Amino acid sequence: MKKLFEGVYKEGNRIFTKNLMPGRKVYNERLLKKGGVEYRSWNPYRSKMAAAILKGLKNFLIKEGERILYLGVASGTTASHFSDIIGNGGIIYGIEISFKPMKNFIKLCQERKNMLPVLADANKPEMYEAIIEDANVLYQDIAQKNQVEIFLKNMNKFEPQHGIIMVKARSIDISMKPNRVFERVKKEIGKHFEIKEAIKLAPYAKDHIAIVVE
Ligand SMILES: C[S@@+](CC[C@H](N)C(=O)[O-])C[C@H]1O[C@@H](n2cnc3c(N)ncnc32)[C@H](O)[C@@H]1O
Repeated sequence: MKKLFEGVYKEGNRIFTKNLMPGRKVYNERLLKKGGVEYRSWNPYRSKMAAAILKGLKNFLIKEGERILYLGVASGTTASHFSDIIGNGGIIYGIEISFKPMKNFIKLCQERKNMLPVLADANKPEMYEAIIEDANVLYQDIAQKNQVEIFLKNMNKFEPQHGIIMVKARSIDISMKPNRVFERVKKEIGKHFEIKEAIKLAPYAKDHIAIVVE
């Protein structure tokens, strides 16, 4: 196992996190035992963060003890890998608007004690601000037309040190070329925050870009 970042490992063309809950799978991912440690395979087709890492991301901001505000957590596929990395000293506040994926996320939170489910609309951070304590990373994966507005609103409200947004061009404007949408989004976000890195996620996630800000 080659260490890529703290808590993220690579073997061949696959990446892994150390399983916080040995023996337990979250989304039918592969489990691999090496040197007495169990690793969970992190699927880039199921998780845009894994896609970004495999595409050569340099600024990976999730580490042990991190406090993450996660907008659009769904059933917790990506969040489960963050949970592996941050360990029991960190926390993930998982915001999700839809009840169906949230039901599965709630089950996952019962197993993994470093995740907290919040059924809420990320457009309305005032709905959950009383729950969030000292988030230092904001991670957003919401395929909505106003995804940039949601990101900026939450960044301004919670003032984390870092932000990561997974932008889906076609949700913003289906008629515009994705590269033009990306340029516009970078310009808009760049007015408010320093962009550390922007990385396209194809072929894992078509017409998506990951933007990391400080
Ligand atoms: C692409 S999925 C997220 C996948 C997940 N991040 C992962 O990697 O495991 C986007 C999620 O955002 C949620 N969503 C959409 N609009 C939202 C909003 N306004 N507030 C909170 N969640 C929202 C959707 O219900 C959906 O579950």
